[in-house]
Amino acid sequence: MTESGPAGDIVRAEGLSAAYSGRDGTPALLDISFRAAAGEKIALMGANGAGKSTLLFVLSGVIPPLGGSLVVNGIPVLKENLRELRKTAGLVFQNPDDQIFMPTVEDDVSFGPRNYGAGVEETGERVRKTLETLGIGDLSKRLAHHLSGGEKRLVALAGILVMEPALLLLDEPLAFLDTAARRRLLAVLAGLSQTMIIATHDTDLARTLCGRCILLQKGRVRADGPVDEVLADGARLEKWGL
Ligand SMILES: Nc1ncnc2c1ncn2[C@@H]1O[C@H](COP(=O)(O)OP(=O)(O)O)[C@@H](O)[C@H]1O
Ligand SMILES: [Mg+2]
Repeated sequence: MTESGPAGDIVRAEGLSAAYSGRDGTPALLDISFRAAAGEKIALMGANGAGKSTLLFVLSGVIPPLGGSLVVNGIPVLKENLRELRKTAGLVFQNPDDQIFMPTVEDDVSFGPRNYGAGVEETGERVRKTLETLGIGDLSKRLAHHLSGGEKRLVALAGILVMEPALLLLDEPLAFLDTAARRRLLAVLAGLSQTMIIATHDTDLARTLCGRCILLQKGRVRADGPVDEVLADGARLEKWGL
């Protein structure tokens, strides 16, 4: 395995597998191979339990792959590279309450840059810019646990974007959002240039935001191609539990 892919490849996954200890031995991911080019926005779809969250966990270094090889933005995903990997691959969890842990919005979004050694002034500037990009500059001094679901999700996204990750991983970003909050988040995501992999059940999100769709079933890739083509085959989708 060479260390970096051809220019522009942000993800190179070859034969990836993953398993949870305590599970009956069936792997949660099996023989996953794909590449993502810089700037691609990919919808990761599949029924509940298909392995979407697990794949995002592996791509962001939250859980180690059991086998296969994975290179993210030129960084081989190995134990010794995890700190570097987490800076380049940012995962926004499905539930913002799993992510936001500092009392105020400003403190929470500052945590990543401070943790990676940025000074107070630089951090303040990056936080201000990130909140502005997401249209939530006015939330800066608010207590995170007083925010609405939609606001929390934007704050959780801010906490990741402030690190300027090359790869943005989003787990069910529209879950629990009302129509206005969904529209706002979709517009925000459409305006970002990052490479994105978005686990979602939402075919509208896939169609409007993503050029490509990877369909998982029981931990395997069953389809990978243009969103319209993957979603056009109703019989196949039904077979794979969608
Ligand atoms: N912490 C865990 N421990 C054991 N099994 C898990 C754990 N998390 C997920 N799984 C199992 O791994 C498989 C894939 O789950 P997941 O990646 O969460 O699917 P999805 O996000 O597509 O709904 C499922 O069979 C699920 O039950
Ligand atoms: Mg999931």
